[in-house]
Amino acid sequence: MQLLAAPSRRSQGWRIQSSPALLCVLCVLAGLPSWGSGCPSLCVCNGTEVDCGGRGLVSLPALGTLPPGTSALLLPNNRLSTLPATAFSNATFLERLDLSNNFLDNLPASLFRELTNLTELVLRNNSLTVLDRDLFQGLAQLRRLDLSINGLSTVPLGLLDDLSGLTWLSLASNRLHALERAAFEPLANLQYLQLGGNPWECDCSLRDFKHWMEWLLYRGGRVDAVECTLPKDLRGRDIRGVPMEMFNYCLQLEDENGGAKGGSPPCNRGGGAQPSETPPVADTSAPADCVRQRYRPVSVRRAIGTVVIAGVVCGIVCIMMVAAAAYGCIYASLMAKYQRELKKRQPLMGDGDADGDPEEKQISSVA
Ligand SMILES: *[C@@H]1O[C@H](CO)[C@@H](O)[C@H](O)[C@H]1NC(C)=O
Ligand SMILES: *[C@@H]1O[C@H](CO)[C@@H](O)[C@H](O)[C@H]1NC(C)=O
Ligand SMILES: *[C@@H]1O[C@H](CO)[C@@H](O)[C@H](O)[C@H]1NC(C)=O
Ligand SMILES: *[C@@H]1O[C@H](CO)[C@@H](O)[C@H](O)[C@H]1NC(C)=O
Repeated sequence: MQLLAAPSRRSQGWRIQSSPALLCVLCVLAGLPSWGSGCPSLCVCNGTEVDCGGRGLVSLPALGTLPPGTSALLLPNNRLSTLPATAFSNATFLERLDLSNNFLDNLPASLFRELTNLTELVLRNNSLTVLDRDLFQGLAQLRRLDLSINGLSTVPLGLLDDLSGLTWLSLASNRLHALERAAFEPLANLQYLQLGGNPWECDCSLRDFKHWMEWLLYRGGRVDAVECTLPKDLRGRDIRGVPMEMFNYCLQLEDENGGAKGGSPPCNRGGGAQPSETPPVADTSAPADCVRQRYRPVSVRRAIGTVVIAGVVCGIVCIMMVAAAAYGCIYASLMAKYQRELKKRQPLMGDGDADGDPEEKQISSVA
């Protein structure tokens, strides 16, 4: 019935003249979506759920005022790519919002601002690359947050600050290579964390987060596999199995970079210095020296050691060769001198002696 409403509305002007009775019907049909407790067109409502999933929607249906008692709005498997900042401003009572399997690539910072009763938010399988640090502000009731299968390369400081009630978080299958411990510290009630399917770089930039993760595990939390992609010699290993000693060089790096602060790796210091005023864009672009550090892992430092040892060994071998050569030269010249003296003495000693030793003759001819 509501499917008919859209095309009919388009030709409304023509029908107004044709039939007053039809006009009346059309008015009713057109008015449906904005009725006080109407189910949005193209959606199915059953009292608690408004299900608009898999309808090929490219924009949000007019939600108007959702039926009273609605606690869940389901919009998965559509083609949504953008949402207006006020999209959910009438849905303050929502507890569950599912936007999975869409093409959302950018969310307005205030999109969820009114949804203070939200307990579950699913943004799985979209095209999100950056999240505004204020996006989840005020969602104090949130228990489950699914951000898996997106293009996130960073979790900005402050993003999770209001989510102290969160128990389940998935960041699986994104493009994360490092995480800041400070961004996760507000999650005091987290029990389950999914981090798999990310290109983790197991170096100094992950050291403090590893500490936090170990604390999470210690208090009974669960974390899935965190497999290293870099450095090469740790590829495929789970960072939880990499001993903390492997990260000792980070402290040296910090000292080299002058004045470590609060034990955080140097890369994080830029973000930690201005925690509240930094926009998320600034967080994504790490300072140049930070990037360089990320690519100076254990293996490189080992390679430097190898070069030094190889140099020392080469030096020793060279000195020995020079000594051997010098010894050979001295020996040869001494022998030559001896032979010459022998030759000089030969005429004095007579012919009989000259025939006596053919070997000596040979040596003297060579010399
Ligand atoms: C509405 O549907 C969902 C799932 O399809 C179900 O869990 C829920 O109980 C239903 N609500 C009502 C009031 O029928
Ligand atoms: C919210 O509801 C009011 C009427 O109650 C309506 O005028 C307004 O357009 C609605 N806003 C949205 C974003 O649907
Ligand atoms: C949020 O939930 C509380 C308690 O469940 C309820 O009293 C309140 O009215 C809800 N807020 C909205 C905007 O629905
Ligand atoms: C992600 O969403 C796209 C488009 O909606 C869909 O084709 C694909 O199967 C989904 N992938 C997963 C892993 O859910």
